[in-house]
Amino acid sequence: SKIALVGAGGVGGAVAHLAAMADMADEIALIDIAPGLAAATALDLNHASGITGVRARCTGGEDLSRVAGAEVIVVTAGRARAPGMTRADLIGVNTRVIQSAAEVIRTAAPQAVVIVVTNPLDEMTVEMLRATGFAREQVLGMAGTLDSSRFRNALAHAAGVFPADVQAITLGSHGEEMAPITSLARIKGRRLERFLTRDQIAGCVSDAVTGGGQVVALKKRGSATIAPAHASIEVMDHLRGARVGAVPVSVMLDGEYGIHGVVLGVPAHLGAGGLIEVEELRLSDEERAALHRAAEAIRGRLAP
Ligand code: NAI
Repeated sequence: SKIALVGAGGVGGAVAHLAAMADMADEIALIDIAPGLAAATALDLNHASGITGVRARCTGGEDLSRVAGAEVIVVTAGRARAPGMTRADLIGVNTRVIQSAAEVIRTAAPQAVVIVVTNPLDEMTVEMLRATGFAREQVLGMAGTLDSSRFRNALAHAAGVFPADVQAITLGSHGEEMAPITSLARIKGRRLERFLTRDQIAGCVSDAVTGGGQVVALKKRGSATIAPAHASIEVMDHLRGARVGAVPVSVMLDGEYGIHGVVLGVPAHLGAGGLIEVEELRLSDEERAALHRAAEAIRGRLAP
């Protein structure tokens, strides 16, 4: 089995580390246009195997043709936000990166499931679908698992419980139009209002939406890497059957939630071939409206 990582920067490198530690594939191939970076990271990871006992072999280089034979490809290539930038500001520069990756993936790995991580996430997932011509089942955007983890972390912190006591997800866009779903969120199996005031809940919603920006602002150079890498691994675990149930991912909608022809974060069941089906949750009217607003905002930012 083979996993390919297009982009071996902060997020790609961290995904490689976690995938290697989980012995997720026989080969983990890293690819990055920065000369030497992917090969160096692969070597560094292999050098740890004498301690970890990991069997997965890491390989690395600059050439995109290394994606050949991969069942799963994680794309983190492109620019990350600098302080003060929105994710949407990256659309121009990263569209070209996604297009160049897609051109090779289309022919070298036509059966692969592609997980897009590059921002702006929903728009770049649309671009990957367009440029590969792949079926919607094969192209997933990673954001909901990260945003949901940030939301659960905020709720747990506010309520003074452990994150494992919290069930909560976010849907919608990976950005301003994110829709943290409070109506279905539970702490120790109970509604949020049993533990938190309205203001506290609003604060947690805000933390989910701004969490990525908080890291960017503190770091000055580059974006979050650790939580995004774990969130990518969560999606990969669903693909390989190591986790089951619905998980929030960005997929091209085909009528689900009354939305057509735009990529949006929704709960979905995944398997080896990618998307199995979108789960339609019973949302509040307000949350449903937020999903539709997110869909229209993303549609408005897409190239015609
Ligand atoms: P980074 O700058 O550390 O790494 C990006 C890497 O992509 C660089 O090493 C660069 O050389 C490489 N690259 C650029 N163009 C390439 C090409 N055409 N082919 C191959 N490699 C190429 O950035 P970082 O922190 O890893 O973030 C990567 C992307 O992921 C950014 O767009 C960021 O905004 C996004 N991101 C998305 C998240 C999500 O939840 N979806 C979470 C965190 C980051």
